[in-house]
Amino acid sequence: MLSADHAGHRTPVEQSGRAGHAKPGSLTRRFARGPGTAGDGAVPGPRAVPAKTLRITRRLVREQVRSLGDRLVEWRTDRSLRFTDADRFGHELPDRKEMLRRAWHYACFNRIEGDYAEFGCHGAFTFRMAWHAMELVGTTARLWGFDSFAGLPEQVDRRDGHPRWMAGTMATSVERFHQLCARAGMTPDRYVVVEGLYHETLQSHASDPRPGLVAVAYVDCDLYSSTVDVLQFLETRLRPGSVIAFDDYFCTNPDGPSGERRAALEHFATSTWQLVPYVQFGWAGMSFVVEPRGGPEVGRPITAGP
Ligand SMILES: C[S@@+](CC[C@H](N)C(=O)[O-])C[C@H]1O[C@@H](n2cnc3c(N)ncnc32)[C@H](O)[C@@H]1O
Repeated sequence: MLSADHAGHRTPVEQSGRAGHAKPGSLTRRFARGPGTAGDGAVPGPRAVPAKTLRITRRLVREQVRSLGDRLVEWRTDRSLRFTDADRFGHELPDRKEMLRRAWHYACFNRIEGDYAEFGCHGAFTFRMAWHAMELVGTTARLWGFDSFAGLPEQVDRRDGHPRWMAGTMATSVERFHQLCARAGMTPDRYVVVEGLYHETLQSHASDPRPGLVAVAYVDCDLYSSTVDVLQFLETRLRPGSVIAFDDYFCTNPDGPSGERRAALEHFATSTWQLVPYVQFGWAGMSFVVEPRGGPEVGRPITAGP
C-alpha cells in the first residue's frame, strides 16, 4: 500500500513499505520524509536514507550499546573484587559494630538484664559503638570500661605469648577517653571507668566500683593472663543469656591457641557456664551466648502440663 506525506511526495522508505514503523517525530520518520519536507518548504529537509542503511546503522548501534554494557559490567565486577583502604584496618570495625548491634538487639528483645562491661577499652572505639548500639535499642543499662590506660602489660605467662603484643602499646590517657565518650554524646551518669590493672581492680577484695549483672561483656585485653582475671570476675556476674564477645578469639602462637581463646577454653572447661557460639565478627572476633552448664532444662522434654 502506498502512502504520501503532507506535501504529497512519496518517499523511498514509504515505497519500501516500512514507513509504518516510524514513530511520529522520531529520527527515522524525519529521515523517511525525504527532501522538501522541512515544514514551510523554504529549507530542504535531510536527504532520504535508504532502508538498508537504516537497518545496518541500527544493528551497529545495538552492537555498540551491548558491548558498552558488557564493558560496564566487567568494570563493576573488577571493582567489586578489589579491596579498598578501609579493608586494610585489621579489626574490621564495621563487623564489630554490627556484632554489638545484634548483641544489644538480642539482649533487649530477650530482656537480658544487666550492664555492658568492656575489658580493654583505651581508644573508646568499641565503647562508643556499644553506646550507639544501646541508644539504638533504647536501653538505659550502664557501660563499664576497665583498663589500665597504660597499654598492654608485660607478658607474665607463656600463654600470653604472641608476636604482635608488645608491652606498653595501645595506651590512651583516661582524660582522652572521657573526651571521646563526650564527643559520642555519652553523659557521665551513663558510664563508669575503672582505671588500673586487672589483678588489682577486678579482685573480689578491691574497693573499685563494679557492675552487678552483665548482659553484654566485651573482652579486648589480648593477653591470656589479663583474660583469666576478667573471666574470674565475670563468673558471678553473668546470667543465662548474657553475651560474651572476645575481640581476639582467633589468635594463636606456636604452642596453639593463645591469649583470650586459651583463657576462655580453660575457664569454661570448669565454669558453671557453657558457651554457645553466637556471632563471629571480623577475622579474629567471636561472641557467645552464656547458658548454665547442664542446666535444668537440658534434656527435659517440654510439656504442656505439670
Ligand atoms: C586492644 S586494646 C583495647 C582497644 C579498645 N577495645 C578500643 O576499641 O579502642 C587492649 C587494651 O587492654 C588493656 N589491658 C590489657 N591487659 C590489661 C590488664 N591486665 N589490666 C588493665 N588493662 C589491660 C590495655 O591497656 C589496652 O588498652
